[in-house]
Amino acid sequence: MMKDKAPRAYARGIFKYFSERNPPKHYPPSHKASEGYPLSSTNSRSWSSAKADKFAIVTGASTGIGRAIAIAFAKKRAKVALVARTKDRLQQTKDLVEKAGGQAEIFPADLSKLDSINDLISRIKSKTKKVDILVNVAGIWHGENEVYAARDFADFPQQVILDTYFVGIIAPTILTHAFVPLMGKGSKIINISGTFESGAKGWLPYYVSKRAIEDLTVGLSEELKEKEIHVNAISPSDTATDAYKKYFPQYLEEAIKPEEIAAYAVYLCENNLSGKVTVLKKDKEPFESFHR
Ligand SMILES: NC(=O)c1ccc[n+]([C@@H]2O[C@H](COP(=O)([O-])OP(=O)(O)OC[C@H]3O[C@@H](n4cnc5c(N)ncnc54)[C@H](OP(=O)(O)O)[C@@H]3O)[C@@H](O)[C@H]2O)c1
Repeated sequence: MMKDKAPRAYARGIFKYFSERNPPKHYPPSHKASEGYPLSSTNSRSWSSAKADKFAIVTGASTGIGRAIAIAFAKKRAKVALVARTKDRLQQTKDLVEKAGGQAEIFPADLSKLDSINDLISRIKSKTKKVDILVNVAGIWHGENEVYAARDFADFPQQVILDTYFVGIIAPTILTHAFVPLMGKGSKIINISGTFESGAKGWLPYYVSKRAIEDLTVGLSEELKEKEIHVNAISPSDTATDAYKKYFPQYLEEAIKPEEIAAYAVYLCENNLSGKVTVLKKDKEPFESFHR
């Protein structure tokens, strides 16, 4: 399996950042991810005090980081639209959301296909006239039984490159394009990146898709400034999702928990910062990192 071949530099570095080389410029909260985030800053508004429940869309909600974010949002009384391909895993997330006291509906969709994305948009629009939060989590860094690591660019199948770009950057772009008109002042868009300090070698399609989503984040934040729609990216370091456990069990101790990423997503929803790409890394304070 690829994981056996992946040199430690890749495993350690895949989701790590430019942090050591570029010292952090900005620390939004002075808390570690594991301690949760302050929810009482002057420009924050707690969901629990909001009049109406929020409508949130979370892609990649069938597992891992997306599932953790859906559950965290449900605890804040959001109604969550759960998007991914696998129906039974989406249903499991829905069950967990309901167990947490929230509401969710599943929207199976293949984000590697434009027709399926457009069908998803129609289905969601038939259910809601407003979207308060869009979280683009779905991304491709592995297949069913292989991790796309330590692979020469020329050895990537064309389809893997296309799917990685489609799910990782085209779908978030098209979903954002469709749902921004349904967003009001104070709405949030959160994109999940995952850039890493060891660079692109061995992971080029993934790397490109993640750099692109950071550009989308920063550009969109400028574009939507007057509308007061806030756009940020979270760039998680190695995160102990099921997929990570499967491919990199030997590095689990270095991995942050998906719930910590979810806590930061909640923090972003309760505050008005915009245009930030924030790295979350185990035992480190969150710090800003953008490749400009
Ligand atoms: N785990 C980490 O260490 C780590 C670190 C940094 C960034 N990230 C990023 O965080 C995100 C989630 O990662 P994870 O570890 O939780 O990953 P994961 O277990 O691989 O989950 C990927 C999610 O994307 C969905 N997805 C994949 N292809 C799709 C498609 N064609 N259409 C619709 N949905 C699709 C999957 O659902 P279905 O298979 O059901 O469709 C799943 O919900 C990814 O963007 C990843 O790059 C992860």
